Amino acid sequence: MIVAIDGPAGAGKSTVARAVADRIGAAYLDTGAMYRALTLAALRRGLDPEDAGAVAELAAATSIELEPEADGALRVRVDDEDVTAAIRDAEVTASVSAVAAHGPVRERMVARQREILTRGGWVADGRDIGTTVAPDAEVKVFLTATLEARATRRADELGPDADRADVYEAVRVRDRLDTTRAESPLRRADDAHVIDSTDMSADEVVEAVIALAELAAETGERA
Ligand code: DC
Repeated sequence: MIVAIDGPAGAGKSTVARAVADRIGAAYLDTGAMYRALTLAALRRGLDPEDAGAVAELAAATSIELEPEADGALRVRVDDEDVTAAIRDAEVTASVSAVAAHGPVRERMVARQREILTRGGWVADGRDIGTTVAPDAEVKVFLTATLEARATRRADELGPDADRADVYEAVRVRDRLDTTRAESPLRRADDAHVIDSTDMSADEVVEAVIALAELAAETGERA
């Protein structure tokens, strides 16, 4: 079974996807981590994230591996170097939408993601899982929340030193870039269940997604 969880930055996708995967005995695929890993590699080489040709060339030459840890987290390696922490840096976050907007980069990432998803059960999160990567996923969720709620969560994650206005602005800009790009922009698949997590706890969202997965497993049909 494939459970696809798409939605904007800060909606809680990775927390929910990881917990659902753990509960239903599936593996977790964090597709954003793949775009982040490529972005880190590009920045380290001094490439311009807007340079489609250079970034696509780098994507072809770079190996990105995601390895599950015992606690369900994913270890991310780029050309055998552990970059799990580095891909969350602010510079990577600020440039990843530009890298992810390039058509040839997406083609390569989507092909790799489809290859990974062919075997076994998965919970995959991203922006285009239900629309492009796995349009036949048994469960599709579009997880969203208000911009205010998402920016507040991001700021809380970053800690007391984070400037809330800056975080709000960064989330707003990323929303705009991710929803307006020409290549598979962030949008809800027509058959996705919308879950608005603004006033929900992570546990409540996890239970809602698991109920959909159980329904799909029982009926053998898409939930
Ligand atoms: O989920 P995240 O914040 O780690 O994602 C990082 C960026 O990667 C996000 O701004 C958009 C992009 N992305 C994408 O375009 N397609 C995906 N399937 C996953 C992420």
